[in-house]
Amino acid sequence: MGEELVKAKMVIDKDYVISKIDKRIYGSFIEQLGRAVYGGIYEPDHPSADEQGFRQDVLDLVKELQVPIVRYPGGNMVSAYNWEDGIGPKEDRPRRLELAWRVTETNEVGTNEFVDWAKKANAEVMMAVNLGTRGIDAARNLLEYTNHPGGTAWSELRKQHGYQEPHNIKTWCLGNEMDGSWQIGQKTAYEYGRLAAETAKAMRQVDPTIELVSCGSSSAHMPTFPEWEATTLDHTYEYVDYISLHQYYGNPNNDTANFLANSMDMENFIQTVISTCDYIKAKKRSKKTINLSFDEWNVWFHSNDQDKKIEPWSIAPPQLEDVYTFEDALLVGSMLNTLLRHSDRIKIAAMAQLVNVIAPIMTENGGRAWKQTIFYPYYYTSVYGRGVALNPVIDSPEYDSTDFTDVPYLDSSVVYNEEKEEVVIFATNRNLQNTLQVEIDARSFNEYEVKEHVVLHHDDPKATNTLGNEQVKPHNNGESYMDNGKVVGILPKLSWNMIRLTKSGKE
Ligand code: AHR
Repeated sequence: MGEELVKAKMVIDKDYVISKIDKRIYGSFIEQLGRAVYGGIYEPDHPSADEQGFRQDVLDLVKELQVPIVRYPGGNMVSAYNWEDGIGPKEDRPRRLELAWRVTETNEVGTNEFVDWAKKANAEVMMAVNLGTRGIDAARNLLEYTNHPGGTAWSELRKQHGYQEPHNIKTWCLGNEMDGSWQIGQKTAYEYGRLAAETAKAMRQVDPTIELVSCGSSSAHMPTFPEWEATTLDHTYEYVDYISLHQYYGNPNNDTANFLANSMDMENFIQTVISTCDYIKAKKRSKKTINLSFDEWNVWFHSNDQDKKIEPWSIAPPQLEDVYTFEDALLVGSMLNTLLRHSDRIKIAAMAQLVNVIAPIMTENGGRAWKQTIFYPYYYTSVYGRGVALNPVIDSPEYDSTDFTDVPYLDSSVVYNEEKEEVVIFATNRNLQNTLQVEIDARSFNEYEVKEHVVLHHDDPKATNTLGNEQVKPHNNGESYMDNGKVVGILPKLSWNMIRLTKSGKE
């Protein structure tokens, strides 16, 4: 069957405001895991390493992404982490069995180094505390070490370690995925809710200016979801600002149409978490609204078999090194659209992760750094998706897949940047066979015209970017045009697109 033209319609309007976008929605995550830190952001022998051992080639790519906040140090790793192991003179730091990933942790990089790295990357730190093997005491001490100005044992120790000024870390995660059977120190919802509430109270006594994230479910597919959210929030509601969401997708059965529809699952997940937060709000007769921190999201499945072969207790082995395909980039684009369409409640998010470990940036030890396929939708959405999210009214033909019904071929989000006089339309065409022609009624932007149309497409959904063979790259020769006051978006079959409109006559 030959290619047909499929048509869709969309209305965008200045007045259809979802929310001002919190830039932290474009955050990411570095766990002390695999080669994320060692061989990723940090490699003292690398030709591009600075005086602290940080790879400049990697820092340049991170800065290109304009990542505003980076979660650290885990992930699963944090649930058995002694933060004290990672401070002070490097030669005195202990090597430990790292239980979550069964590797040896050298502790060469710890809290202070990571804060320095984040500064160099122009990013804030989102710090997680260990609520697996530890609790209130370790958390309040760490906070005193990082945020208290001076005059106490922990804050003076920081000064002794060369940091006169407090780091003032604002955003803190109360543990990680505490519902998961794989977590060291797994808890029931009741146990976690009590511990998180008491830890939050103590941390707020140390520094009342911090923001706290309560652990939500490890995914929407956990048997305890969403009861976990309801029970834990019942305890933590007054003391926290956000609840976390984590979700990864895979395509193990090679069913592209179904894989690309997974953003609908993400959509349901978000809606259920919002409803649960608001149910507890109503139950407590509270005026406070809990927002969402989607602090782990991505595609993750390619490396599962390879990871089973990793030698236990090795140092910085290549773990979770998914090589991403072109179709993965399409789903990542749709996941970003989903976050933006919920930017009224999602204030923080983190693509998991940033370097080497299920990451947009890959490196070779001692060698080059390069961009995976998923780098591109993340890059364009982060750089051009700043401003106000508008609600696109979409009328698109739909399809059914193995797990989903009524999946619109067109998936989109829209951002208006008033200061730059720019409207940016991010759009995925999930149709495997046909070009999608989208008639866009941009009624309140009638002085605007198409400035640029970036397209990410490859004929092979399984095309990848590996060292020296980068097959998937965007071009900006997209065919969108103005017709009779309307924007006509031409979205090639199976493509991710960014159509940028600017006010006529603007450079
Ligand atoms: O990002 C990889 C792992 O995924 C994290 O350590 C954990 O929180 C999640 O299960």
